[in-house]
Amino acid sequence: MKIAVISDIHGNFVALEAVLKDVKERGCDRLVCLGDLVTLGPQPVQVLEAVMEENCDCIMGNHDQALLSPDKWNELQIYSMVQPDLKWAMQHLDDRHYKFLSSFLPYKAVDMYDNYQILFCHGSPKSNIQVMFPDMDVKMLDEMCDGFSAQAIVNGHLHCQFKELAGKRLYINPGSVGMPFKIPPGPGIAPVMHHWAEYATLSISPSGKTLAEKIQVELHRVKYDFSELKQILNASSLPGKSWWLEQMP
Ligand SMILES: [Fe+2]
Repeated sequence: MKIAVISDIHGNFVALEAVLKDVKERGCDRLVCLGDLVTLGPQPVQVLEAVMEENCDCIMGNHDQALLSPDKWNELQIYSMVQPDLKWAMQHLDDRHYKFLSSFLPYKAVDMYDNYQILFCHGSPKSNIQVMFPDMDVKMLDEMCDGFSAQAIVNGHLHCQFKELAGKRLYINPGSVGMPFKIPPGPGIAPVMHHWAEYATLSISPSGKTLAEKIQVELHRVKYDFSELKQILNASSLPGKSWWLEQMP
């Protein structure tokens, strides 16, 4: 079985279209989306409609939840700098889109075989604002997953790809489809975008002896047409489009 995992599309349909084409070419059996679909980018509706079509499991990212709960922006870490972009995206959504967003799950645990389980989430199994970093202390990772028995945790939110065996668990981040970062943003660190789209595939192999053999992870980078995205941004009234235009190759 091969599972494709996409995350953090952030309203970039040009990138999503290229990734979905690549997913189909690789012959995946299942697609899981780890959230943050709509906001920040110039194509919120196109992204939502495309993911609706896929009929896949969707996890509730902090940005998805923010669209449903504008009174919780502070606790969802929607900072003032990007709030105009969320308001702009909300102007484009209708009742059908909100109903779809409401159906997103806090996490999804998928049983594999031999008591193996993979858990898909946005930040951590417990919270869509917690962040898992590569090289993080195992104790901290264990704490974030305390009470969950999955041997593999697949999470988004960071916008950086990684796969790491830490303690008894495998941690996987497929990166970001629409807004992959060279360095994770932080205090005083402005995010800089890679010029590709990111996602991951997990190939499940019952005959594997070790965890890494049972769940084989491939991190993919897909090139797409940035001149098309640039044209769309130039024609858009998106408040934060100057940041995107600065990121263009
Ligand atoms: Fe995100």
